[in-house]
Amino acid sequence: MKIAAFVSSSSHHGNTATAVQKFAEGARQAGAEVDIYYLHDYDMKPCRGCRVCEKTNECVIKNDDVPKLHQALREADAYVLATPTFYGDITGAFKVFVDRCYPFVDIWKDEETQKMRFGSVNKRRRPGVLIALSGSHGDMVFDSHMKVGYFCLNDLNSYPWREFCIPYTTWKPVAEMEDVVEKLIQGGKDLAAHLNSGEGENLAKTQAYYERYRELKY
Ligand SMILES: Cc1cc2nc3c(=O)[nH]c(=O)nc-3n(C[C@H](O)[C@H](O)[C@H](O)COP(=O)(O)O)c2cc1C
Repeated sequence: MKIAAFVSSSSHHGNTATAVQKFAEGARQAGAEVDIYYLHDYDMKPCRGCRVCEKTNECVIKNDDVPKLHQALREADAYVLATPTFYGDITGAFKVFVDRCYPFVDIWKDEETQKMRFGSVNKRRRPGVLIALSGSHGDMVFDSHMKVGYFCLNDLNSYPWREFCIPYTTWKPVAEMEDVVEKLIQGGKDLAAHLNSGEGENLAKTQAYYERYRELKY
């Protein structure tokens, strides 16, 4: 039972890292193995937009650390994606990471309907957790974090299992938000229990994300 968590803040001791570490603490207490990847420790070149991976499912960029992150994504049973807010949105590091997940997308044409279909080369469905933090903005700021996080999870064949939106860290660091810390630790325990139970996704929840953010024309 392995959980891969991705932190897109530059700090190993900031609010985002603390939130993920607390979640990991709970998951470990409940028997899960958790690997935390601090994205700033990895050389991640931006996506070139060449779209070669749409056909090959392989990235043409070979000379950075993203293949290591892809390996983690292949091996994990669940994902945690965490980002603070920079200028009203996700961080640049989070965006680079998400864009570089594009090789996981499986695009194919349904011969019967002649419509394009978007799946994932990840054959196993996995739960995904989204953690978003802000400084002085309130909850309204998190919609784009959830949208991008959901797009990424979707392409990894992962369903949005739970989300933690933590506003106002400028006024109080996460470590001092006792109720939030408690929720994160419990969330980690719940995810381990969810993985152990083998129960599937909550389809209504996934559908709600789909309806809110997809609006695709095939
Ligand atoms: C460059 C930069 C831009 C930021 N922009 C916003 C913002 O638009 N809205 C907001 O609420 N907080 C903003 N913040 C505050 C961070 O989201 C907040 O301090 C967060 O807790 C930082 O997480 P960290 O400690 O994990 O790095 C910004 C911080 C930085 C460094």
